Amino acid sequence: MTIALPKGRLFEKTSTILGRCGYNLTLGDRQLVAEEEGNKLRAILVKNSDLPTYVHHGIAGLGVCGSDVIYESGYSFYELLTMPFGSTSICLAGRRGEPDSPGDATMLRVATKFTRFTRDIFHSRGMAVNVIRLDGSVELAPVLGLAPYIVDLVETGSTLTAHDLEVKETLGRTSVQLIANPAFYKYHFEAVNRFVDRLREAMDATDHAG
Ligand code: PRP
Repeated sequence: MTIALPKGRLFEKTSTILGRCGYNLTLGDRQLVAEEEGNKLRAILVKNSDLPTYVHHGIAGLGVCGSDVIYESGYSFYELLTMPFGSTSICLAGRRGEPDSPGDATMLRVATKFTRFTRDIFHSRGMAVNVIRLDGSVELAPVLGLAPYIVDLVETGSTLTAHDLEVKETLGRTSVQLIANPAFYKYHFEAVNRFVDRLREAMDATDHAG
């Protein structure tokens, strides 16, 4: 089985849980494909935003991915398990002291990585929104005058505070999901279910160990 894992923080946390299940992934410096010692699992390490593409095209049958990134991809997956880390808020933020929204007459101008989510949520409220796509450091947009508002993930809030921004509205919660390519799951559901059970047991044992 091949699992796609996102680079960075989520990789560390996922590989710890996989290690507890007996899957010890060894990755050399700059190596992006890891075979586990027992050769039952192969992991590919990919950029977070590319992960749904690899799973959608069946290069990896499974993946670990934020629900925000899944939504932006527009692809459909089976979501098999919510991982016990990485849940965070997705918020509309703007400069401290600015009104919470620009009022009916003005179109909301928002910079964000989450363009699909942002359009969908404001359109569902009947609000016109001008969405400007950025790929990172979104909090610079209000500081530099690109857009008065941003939609971004907020965990501790310290990035917003450091740029004199504040949450205007929490739009939703995100979570980290174990996803499966639907066709892969249909053909390999027994092996996948065993894998999910092992992960769940390892996560439960950690909970009980406090
Ligand atoms: C995320 C998010 C915010 C920051 C929020 O950025 O986009 O910038 O974390 O965290 P905080 O509320 O704890 O300060 P990330 O580090 O993933 O990098 P990015 O700027 O490239 O999106």
